Amino acid sequence: MATGKKTAENTPQATRRDFIHISAGAFAAVGAGAVVVPFIQSMNPADDTLASSTVDVDVSKLNPGDSIVSMWRGKPIFIKRRTDEEVKEVRAWPLKDLKDPQTDESRVQKPDWLVVIGVCTHLGCIPTQRKNLIQQGEDGWLCACHGSKYDASGRIISGPAPLNLPVPAYTFINDNKVIRIGEKA
Ligand code: FES
Repeated sequence: MATGKKTAENTPQATRRDFIHISAGAFAAVGAGAVVVPFIQSMNPADDTLASSTVDVDVSKLNPGDSIVSMWRGKPIFIKRRTDEEVKEVRAWPLKDLKDPQTDESRVQKPDWLVVIGVCTHLGCIPTQRKNLIQQGEDGWLCACHGSKYDASGRIISGPAPLNLPVPAYTFINDNKVIRIGEKA
């Protein structure tokens, strides 16, 4: 039952004092936020820096069938020098059998070189290359997280991944011995 007794907390003085404290705290928080946001923004790379960041990869030592993994903007880039047999195999796949139908020709600049971003399009794991994964004589990439298989064109063949491995911007320089990732051809 209410006694009607006044306490220190519910007097008019206490109420005004609380209001002043709360207001001061709110202004301090807003002020701190206003300072922190520009500070964090100043730590981000400028848009033109991001847009111009490129990586040069020496591919002169790769023989047909070899592949390497490079890094670009924090992502693995799979570069594979494909054999004639692999090129023939990936180009023989009927598009209607592909989950994300794309011709191999539309994904490469030169038939023997494949360059793709090595991040699984299901949940972002990093697939690994496996010999004869798709069929005899055709290597591919297996994402061990949930079993997605990508062919020697980086296209999704089976498993839960919905899309092909993306192709980054790249161009060949130095008499085709170096691939520059991040620059359009
Ligand atoms: S993340 Fe690759 S299959 Fe799930």
